[in-house]
Amino acid sequence: MQTIRQLAALRDALAAFRADGARIALVPTMGALHAGHIALIEAAKLVADKVVASIFVNPRQFAPNEDLARYPRRELQDQRMLAEAGCALLWLPPVEEIYPAGFATNIQVAGVSAPLEGASRPGHFDGVATVVAKLFNQVRPDVALFGEKDFQQLAVIRRMATDLDFGIEIIGVPTQRDDDGLALSSRNAYLVGEDRARAVALPRALGVAARGIARGGAVDAALATAHDALLSGGFESVDYIALVDAETLEPPSDLHRPLRLLAAARIAGTRLIDNIAVEIDEQG
Ligand code: PAJ
Repeated sequence: MQTIRQLAALRDALAAFRADGARIALVPTMGALHAGHIALIEAAKLVADKVVASIFVNPRQFAPNEDLARYPRRELQDQRMLAEAGCALLWLPPVEEIYPAGFATNIQVAGVSAPLEGASRPGHFDGVATVVAKLFNQVRPDVALFGEKDFQQLAVIRRMATDLDFGIEIIGVPTQRDDDGLALSSRNAYLVGEDRARAVALPRALGVAARGIARGGAVDAALATAHDALLSGGFESVDYIALVDAETLEPPSDLHRPLRLLAAARIAGTRLIDNIAVEIDEQG
């Protein structure tokens, strides 16, 4: 695996791939890699000849009160994991290759960015959309893969890729979970002992609510029960728990369209997010 840190060298390496007729996949990450990220690399290998991963801890998607400074950084381990997974190239730009002096552009995807994470973390999706647009233009992949773990992010990127005619196929990959059901996340590293064990209340509460709604249970009651289960399970606060249309992320107008249940909650000072599909049981 080549590790490249300068845009000129990236362009040369990509030109060599393309000269061989390779179909190129991009997997953008912020590093501190885990099996969730590796699942994206594995999925990428199935749809492309050369997999490019990027690692860039993007300052623009962190608010001033968030964890940019303490976000885990494990470059050597990440490089090893990517090489073992069969990644062909790691794009590891310094901040100047992404945001050179004078950088003044912001990409804002209205609508799908607004609720849920967008409401809890103002500006977050502008930061995500801006850096992903930048990475798309730097790498110009044929296909890019993102995790359903960040379900709203995936929807924002799909919207942007369509709106701006990137011509890049966007693929969503199912959420990878630990044995107890907690979604893998670089931020799980902040949780130790009892707090890590209690965090399982999040996927459990979502699962119970999703099954209840699927069987025809009242949505508001299911959401209230899930909210209580998080607080009694050790979470100190819940930013949101909501059932939305899986495409628009708006409140569902039709329960027979694809639905998604999403939540964000804080445990021991760490903010976790998770989501699950809700499929209404037509017999129910
Ligand atoms: P990061 O949190 O590092 O995640 C990189 C990619 O891995 C995202 O597409 C995310 O959805 C996916 N991912 C994370 N945990 C996963 C899991 N448990 N199962 C499946 N996929 C998982 O998301 C970002 O970085 C950034 O916002 C980024 C898109 C790189 C822009 O800066």
